[in-house]
Amino acid sequence: MTIDVLSVSSEAVPLIKTGGLADVAGALPGALAPHGVKMTLMLPGYPAAMQAVRKGKVVHEWDSLLGEAARLVSGKINGFPLLVLDVPAYFSREGSPYTDHSGHDWNDNWRRFAAFGRAAADLAAGAVKRRRFDVLHAHDWQAAMALAYLRFSPPEGGRRIPSVMTIHNMAFQGYFGPEIFPRLGLPKSAWTLDGVEYHGGVSYLKAGMEAASAITTVSPTYAAEIRMSEFGMGLEGIVASRSERVFGIVNGIDTGLWNPETDPELAQPYTAAKLARRKRNKRGLEVEFGLDPDEGPLFIVISRLTWQKGMDVLVETLDHLVGTGARLALLGSGDAELEASLHAAAARHPGRIGLRIGYDEALAHRMQGGGDAMLVPSRFEPCGLTQLYALAYGCVPVVARTGGLADTVIDANLAGLAAGVATGVQFAGVHYHSLATAIDRTVELYGHPKVWRTIQRNGMKCDFSWSTSGRAYAELYSQLMAEGQ
Ligand code: ADP
Ligand code: GLC
Repeated sequence: MTIDVLSVSSEAVPLIKTGGLADVAGALPGALAPHGVKMTLMLPGYPAAMQAVRKGKVVHEWDSLLGEAARLVSGKINGFPLLVLDVPAYFSREGSPYTDHSGHDWNDNWRRFAAFGRAAADLAAGAVKRRRFDVLHAHDWQAAMALAYLRFSPPEGGRRIPSVMTIHNMAFQGYFGPEIFPRLGLPKSAWTLDGVEYHGGVSYLKAGMEAASAITTVSPTYAAEIRMSEFGMGLEGIVASRSERVFGIVNGIDTGLWNPETDPELAQPYTAAKLARRKRNKRGLEVEFGLDPDEGPLFIVISRLTWQKGMDVLVETLDHLVGTGARLALLGSGDAELEASLHAAAARHPGRIGLRIGYDEALAHRMQGGGDAMLVPSRFEPCGLTQLYALAYGCVPVVARTGGLADTVIDANLAGLAAGVATGVQFAGVHYHSLATAIDRTVELYGHPKVWRTIQRNGMKCDFSWSTSGRAYAELYSQLMAEGQ
């Protein structure tokens, strides 16, 4: 039996991406197909998404979705079914999907993503001809209102199907003032503690979590962490109260897109058996980043430049990193202040620290293929994909012991090395000393080429494909269907 799932997300590769959510939403249909799941992805009609369905069919129209006429257009993404919600007034904006050109949240985000949720709920409930779904699966706050609408205001004659709310990052909750509530078109009964109300306003993520048949997040450790106030960001109480409904399913990686043997971005493709070939890629990176060529370790960072990612602590340790004889190539964008301090560090250490501020997918691949080690000093990390790509590419991950980083990297301590299972370096607590010590340990390991190669190969042998996690989602869907809600 095929399970028909409607996956609702604000991002998906290759059409729209600001972070790992896009990689995951884009990969899920393919990851689930072998497990008897037919997944249809629904995206907002951002310019790139509209372009992808320009020859598509209009499968439904709304006279008004929170005040604007809307259409649902069908197409394909990565060979799988795609539905795009076309509302030019909400989504036809270039640049970031969430912020204006000066980096401020669009002030109608509440309306844009409520409309997206309203449309998804209608679709999930069967209001669109010839589309029938067994499970509604929403990702992050931008899609969460779908669950609230399905629960409190299903379309007439609509079916209430089971739902999954996946939290990719608890730090982003979609919180708005109470004045929006009357404009959402929800009944008064939704304005409750176990509805959409949260601290006197409306929280989209919380609304989705309350309405969901199951809540998932993207690693087992993060699923446990969000029960605590340090990581729950205020929603730990709900996680705890629904704890038998909370599951951690670690993300996989798209091994078609991230494979050092076939990666078209690499000057020199390679395998675990031919690690020496990485050298040519490393030389290329040195040139691209204006770094001195030498045999010492080349650290890389590919990251949003934010507090979550511990980039302020990275900045503090850069003098130390250079002092060990290592070099750093960093690709990232985000906080202006962090960008400025990184520029200052690069100016202090010409030839030792190279920067690329911006977003560059192809360069991210080249960095994984040429860097020796990747630094990921996140304060919290629901899953993290960059360390998974690093493992696949033999670029040794050096990670904070939190969330998915703790679940996916095996520390090269004495026991890990003796057992021959180490895949990287972990450190506890994100501050100057822990990171500086981790850098020292990495440089030391790099100085023992045989040990280093073993760590690289161990990482490359790990299976981070979607096969296990794809099955876990499929089993969850079947279980929810068997329960009926
Ligand atoms: P998050 O989603 O929290 O940003 P992840 O590690 O899950 O963290 O995913 C980040 C994704 O975004 C990865 O695919 C990574 O390669 C990519 N990425 C992050 N910053 C950049 C950048 N500046 N240029 C290119 N790719 C980037
Ligand atoms: C979020 C998290 C990241 C996770 C990604 C995909 O952006 O910050 O840890 O890997 O979602 O689930």
